[in-house]
Amino acid sequence: MVTSAPTSPELIARALVAPGKGILAADESIPTIGKRFKPLGIPNTEENRRAYRELLFTTPGLGEYISGAILFDETLRQMSRDALPLPAILERQGIIPGIKVDHSTTDLANFPREKITEGLDGLRGRLHEYRKAGMRFTKWRAVLVIGPDLPTRACLEANALKLAMFAALSQEADLVPIVEPEILMDGNHAIERCAEVTSMTLDAVFTTLSEHHVHFASMLLKPAMVLPGSECSTPASDEEIAAQTLHCLKRGVPPSVPGIVFLSGGQTPTQATSRLAAIHRIGKAAWALSFSFGRALQEPALNAWRGNGANVNAAQLALLETARQNGQAVQLARAPKA
Ligand code: 13P
Repeated sequence: MVTSAPTSPELIARALVAPGKGILAADESIPTIGKRFKPLGIPNTEENRRAYRELLFTTPGLGEYISGAILFDETLRQMSRDALPLPAILERQGIIPGIKVDHSTTDLANFPREKITEGLDGLRGRLHEYRKAGMRFTKWRAVLVIGPDLPTRACLEANALKLAMFAALSQEADLVPIVEPEILMDGNHAIERCAEVTSMTLDAVFTTLSEHHVHFASMLLKPAMVLPGSECSTPASDEEIAAQTLHCLKRGVPPSVPGIVFLSGGQTPTQATSRLAAIHRIGKAAWALSFSFGRALQEPALNAWRGNGANVNAAQLALLETARQNGQAVQLARAPKA
């Protein structure tokens, strides 16, 4: 059912983290969606990207669990087979459309292995166009790598500055910024090291957002969960991950931020959902806690579709089921404690 969309940025931010709902990140750039298509033998053509996004957005009932969807610039201009713009399909489902506005990462000069995100040039003009085209929120992803001496202070500060400038420009254009400082899982570090880097990152990001007068009540934070490195020999339980994650967030995120939406970052769909549920089980927190998964929401649907029109129904059922499970994980925490 189509519900009337909220209008003010504060209401949009809160609607994006409504109980039992989270965000579908479908904003893969052309090279990134190519990486997802390749193992399944799906050619990375404009038509396949269009058909895939149409499949996702027309999933019957998706709006029950998905509050918003993040688009890539190309998708904004694409039409369904019935000649409806793809963002209009989202709105028909009661899903708020938003857009990734960064231009991906490049090497940070003088800092081997570290990255900086591009895309501030001309951003003010693009944001006004996106707002006119009906987008209600934006996303910018910064990437941080964990190593014995990484991230460096220079890398943290450079990325925090760009996140703050992006957020301020988005708010100026009446758009809700989703601030995404992603700490990669790559490496053999222990979970405690990830917690340390998460705290340093949140400190740098919120100090800079505050210096740039970003209005916390009209933004969302999109962090990674606090995890051991993918090569670490000591696994962590869901409960430990949840405890470490909430501990860092409680120390680092002002209570006036309405919501925190986790990225999945290469966790399997099952891991991402069960850890999200674990975070909810322990978490009574100031902000709403939800998801903004890309891979962990899309993987079952993409595997079912495989680029074949005959599999559209199966893929939509897979997406709906994955969204339902994550919606349920987010709902759990909101239920009154027994
Ligand atoms: P993943 O959930 O696949 O990490 O993607 C989320 C995202 O939006 C990355 O920018």
